[in-house]
Amino acid sequence: IKEEALKNINGMNSLEELENIRIKFLGKKGELTSILRDMGKLSKDERPVIGQLANEIRQEIEKELADAKDRFKEKLKLERIEKEKIDISINKRTRKLGHKHPLLATIEELENLFISMGFTVVEGPEIETVEYNFDALNSPENHPSRDLTDTFYITEDILLRTHTSPVQIRAMKTIKPPIRIVSAGRTFRFDDVDDTHSPMFHQLEGLVVDENISMANLIDTINIFVKELFGKDMKTRFRPHYFPFTEPSAEVDVSCFSCKGKGCPVCDGTGWSMELLGCGMVHPKVLEVCGIDPEKYSGFAFGMGIDRITMVKYGINNIRLLFENDNRFLEQF
Ligand code: PHE
Repeated sequence: IKEEALKNINGMNSLEELENIRIKFLGKKGELTSILRDMGKLSKDERPVIGQLANEIRQEIEKELADAKDRFKEKLKLERIEKEKIDISINKRTRKLGHKHPLLATIEELENLFISMGFTVVEGPEIETVEYNFDALNSPENHPSRDLTDTFYITEDILLRTHTSPVQIRAMKTIKPPIRIVSAGRTFRFDDVDDTHSPMFHQLEGLVVDENISMANLIDTINIFVKELFGKDMKTRFRPHYFPFTEPSAEVDVSCFSCKGKGCPVCDGTGWSMELLGCGMVHPKVLEVCGIDPEKYSGFAFGMGIDRITMVKYGINNIRLLFENDNRFLEQF
C-alpha cells in the first residue's frame, strides 16, 4: 500500500488528483483505513504490530501528501509570476516632450542675470497710451517715430507700444527711488518683414534711479551684463547717440562673436559685430514728469532687442523662424 501510494503521489498533476489519492488511501473507505478498521479481527499478538505499522504508514503517506501539495503550490505560484511579469524595459512613450522656445529661454536668461545683479522684474502693457509711449518720454511732437507710417495706432490716444520704455514711466510713477527694474515683452513697429525685421519684436528695458547714479554705473552695469551673457573676453563700445528720454545717450556695440575683436571677414575686419542696445542717463524732464526730483535723484536706462540676441546666441539667421512655430524648428532647442 505504501509503495503504491508514494508512486501515485509522485505521478500526480493537479491538486484534485492529490485529494483523490488521499481519499483512496486515507479516506473513510480508504485502503489503509479499512485495515485499521478490521484490526478487531486480528489476534491479540498481531494487533499491536499491525496497528503500529499501519499508523506509521499513514503518517508517512500524510507527510508525503503534504509535501507534494506544497511543491505543487510553489510550482503554480512560479508559473503565475512568470505569466504576470511586466517588461518595464520597453519604451512605450507616445507623447512627445515640449521644448522651451529659444526666445523665452533668452528672456529668462536675461532676467535671471539682472535678478542676480539686484534688479526686480516688472511687466507693462503691450497696448499703451500715446502719453506714456511718447509724451512722458520727452518725445517731440513732430518726432518721426510718432508717424502713422511707423506706429500702430488703435485710437488717437492709444497705440501698440513701439518700445518697452513706457514701462520706465509706469515704474517711476509707482515706485519710490531706489528703483532697479527690468521688463521684457513685445513691441510693435510698422516694419516690413525681412530676415531681420518683424512688425512684432521683443525688447528688454532696464531702469535704475537713486541718489548719485552716474554714467560710470551705467557703463559698469552694461559691461558686467555683456561679459556674463556672451563671455569674459567680450568687449563693448559706447557710441554717442540721441534718444529724447536720455541725456547723454549712447548706443553699445559688442565685439565680433567670430574673432572676439581681432578683426575677421565676418565683421569686415572691424572687430565689432552688432549694435546691442540703446542707453543713457534718464532725462531730468522725464524724472520730473514722473514726480521724481531731478536735483536729488538721477538714473540710467537701457533697452535692447531680444530677438537679435536670441538669433546670435542660437545661430538663427531668419527672424521669421522665431514666430512661425514650426515644430521642425522648435524641436531643435
Ligand atoms: N527705447 C529705445 C529704443 O527702442 C532704447 C532705449 C531704452 C534707449 C532706454 C535709451 C534708454 O530704441
